[in-house]
Amino acid sequence: MTTVETPMGYGSMRRKEDARFIRGRGNYVDDVTLPGMLYGAVLRSPFAHARIVSIDTKAAEAHPKVRAVITGATLEGLKLAWMPTLSYDTQAVLATDKVRFQGQEVAFVVAEDRYAARDALELIDVEYDPLPAVVDARRALDPDAPVIRDDKEGKSNNHIFDWSSGDKEKTDRAFAEAEIVVAQDVLYPRVHPAPLETCGAIADFDKVTGKLTIWCNTQAPHAHRTVYAMVAGLPEHKIRIISPDIGGGFGNKVGIYPGYVCAVVGSIVTGKPVKWMEDRSENLMSTSFARDYHMRGEIAATRDGKIKAVRVSVIADHGAFNGTAQPTKFPAGFFHVFTGSYDLEAAYCDVTGVYTNKAPGGVAYACSFRVTEAVYLVERMVDVLAYELHTDPAALRMRNLLRPEQFPYASPTGWEYDSGDYPRALALAMDIAGYDDLRAEQAAQRARWAAGEGGGTLTGIGISFFTEAVGAGPRKHMDILGLGMADGAELRVHPTGKAVLRISVQSQGQGHETTYAQIVAEELGISPDDIEVVHGDTDQTPFGLGTYGSRSTPVSGAATAVVARKVRDRARIVASAMLEVSPDDLEWEKGRWFVRGDPDQGRTITEIALAAHSSLELPEGVEGHLDATTVYNPPNLTFPFGAYICVVDVDPGTGQVKVRRFIAVDDCGVRINPMIVEGQVHGGLADGVGMALMELIAFDPDGNCLGASFMDYLLPTSMECPSWELGATVTPSPHHPIGAKGVGESATVGSPAAVVNAVLDALKPYGVRHADMPLTPAAVWRAIQGAPLRT
Ligand code: CDP
Repeated sequence: MTTVETPMGYGSMRRKEDARFIRGRGNYVDDVTLPGMLYGAVLRSPFAHARIVSIDTKAAEAHPKVRAVITGATLEGLKLAWMPTLSYDTQAVLATDKVRFQGQEVAFVVAEDRYAARDALELIDVEYDPLPAVVDARRALDPDAPVIRDDKEGKSNNHIFDWSSGDKEKTDRAFAEAEIVVAQDVLYPRVHPAPLETCGAIADFDKVTGKLTIWCNTQAPHAHRTVYAMVAGLPEHKIRIISPDIGGGFGNKVGIYPGYVCAVVGSIVTGKPVKWMEDRSENLMSTSFARDYHMRGEIAATRDGKIKAVRVSVIADHGAFNGTAQPTKFPAGFFHVFTGSYDLEAAYCDVTGVYTNKAPGGVAYACSFRVTEAVYLVERMVDVLAYELHTDPAALRMRNLLRPEQFPYASPTGWEYDSGDYPRALALAMDIAGYDDLRAEQAAQRARWAAGEGGGTLTGIGISFFTEAVGAGPRKHMDILGLGMADGAELRVHPTGKAVLRISVQSQGQGHETTYAQIVAEELGISPDDIEVVHGDTDQTPFGLGTYGSRSTPVSGAATAVVARKVRDRARIVASAMLEVSPDDLEWEKGRWFVRGDPDQGRTITEIALAAHSSLELPEGVEGHLDATTVYNPPNLTFPFGAYICVVDVDPGTGQVKVRRFIAVDDCGVRINPMIVEGQVHGGLADGVGMALMELIAFDPDGNCLGASFMDYLLPTSMECPSWELGATVTPSPHHPIGAKGVGESATVGSPAAVVNAVLDALKPYGVRHADMPLTPAAVWRAIQGAPLRT
């Protein structure tokens, strides 16, 4: 990327926030130190499932630096032992009766420093009576499975919900009449968002004013405030959530964790601010896993490759408490976008959610709720079909992709895709990749192997085409805990023409301070450097549901454009008073209103801003100043899409996979800052390589978590990633004020299938049709054992 000057609108300007980040001047929760601050630490369960017989805290309380020890019993007295989850379930803040996953919160120590708090945890004596654990979600509904949630009255099994989408009868009919049906069990394993900065909070309760201030690296400060008010019975206007700089969220920082609630209680009990920061193992073991979907997919098609219908059945592992963050109407998130990017006659899915003795969560890890699972499934299934039909997977996709003239497209599961030109994106990706040459190279290589002259690595070429559904969402369809998913924006232009924009979404590194200033710049012609973007403080920003599911640009980005246009309309009236002409006689060019037909007669936005604050007489009913507010309720989601091609070299001797090339063509409508978009795509592609090849939160049969450090839970580094080859098409969203669609998570959603499809393409000569992620060397090696090389 070479363009770095500051544009007066859209373009690849450097990120404003980087001035402080690259100087080490970011301000993260753990950088905040308050006078008299104490430190909290959480005692966690060593068992996945056990009854608590007793907890003895006397020795810990006697530690000279300990100020308080809080247990489930303490919280029970305050009616805070259980809290609601974002999915209308309950979750233990500190365990009272039983522990239900390894790493569950059992007690909270508040001490003068963090070392003393940790030391004192060792002094707490908990007697457990271990119980058998439910680890495999597919066994959770067995009649003899131990009941995990016996805290819930009348609960006699581990069932959470059944949910379905689509037309079952029509789909079954399509399957009955199909020329070919392929079916495949596909696991999207349990992974973790693993942001660089772990979760943490500082609670400061002021007994005199009754004000509770919480510094917390949350992705949704306003929603947190409301939930604290509802749960703790504190008046909402006395709660302030400050969400400072955040070192990555990816869905991990949406929920309210027991540690936050304990910090609040700790502050109320001690009268001092209390900080709680989890460490890496705590983060991986206890806060919000993602995926864990056991899926069975089926495709019905004609022998010449026309896909007719898709049918899916899912067991969703939700851990010990249903803590997923999904819009209320959709317990399986947006999984019903599983029909993908194809023109289908019918589709149907059913999803059953179950409890297991694992950490709660099921968060939208860098995706719009469950879109990633859906995209992975359908893209794997299309390759399985291509395998069975002995056809090229690119040609099969091209044949079935939705055509541009079908938009807006009503999907068989109830979505309205807003806009798209899918064949163009796939053609571009194939062009960048040199697809035909790659296939020719692969054919020659296979011929050598078949002639017994093989050796070294096998080349695989994998494709995925994805459609995301981002920007939750229209209020009438989407809420979280009853809070409608609309977001506010406020814009104030000062007398000297400098502006402050206040928004409800919260950046975790995506560059909002830059891109939202660019939207105002584009609309008003003020330099982005002269626009301050304020976010992440509930006392300073309008209400809204926060940043996740790539919803910021579709919702708050739209709110920003709308509020800037309101200011522009106000500026027109002021300009008309200044120029003594009717507002109808004025025309806008970026940064200036001028008299139609007499362009020299005009006023710049800076001149107008000063006049708006001056003694200039304004028309009857027009208030002075230059500001506006808005609440944006999106009419629909936006549907970004993309075509990805991955080239891998697989060593059949060791199972080692090397990603040689990765081509990503993304379409997110109008790009506000192409450089930031590319950065978002780079990160997501690395994420995809990680999930496809190495990331897994694994458990042993007793429910012991085997992936609780970065020694076991492997993340991709630059060593595993190729130099990304990006391309773009631009199909504006017709309903978004600036035609933008979200993009933050597109690459995480689209890339795992491309990598996995590439590995399985490489293994095709061995007759391997499917293998589950992560495709570690051991998994790849295992997949080809006993499978003779076919020629
Ligand atoms: O909600 P989140 O910020 O994670 O995702 P997003 O709305 O897709 O935006 C990610 C970043 O890319 C933000 O800085 C956006 O403003 C920017 N972006 C852009 O420049 N153009 C787009 N069409 C979409 C996003």
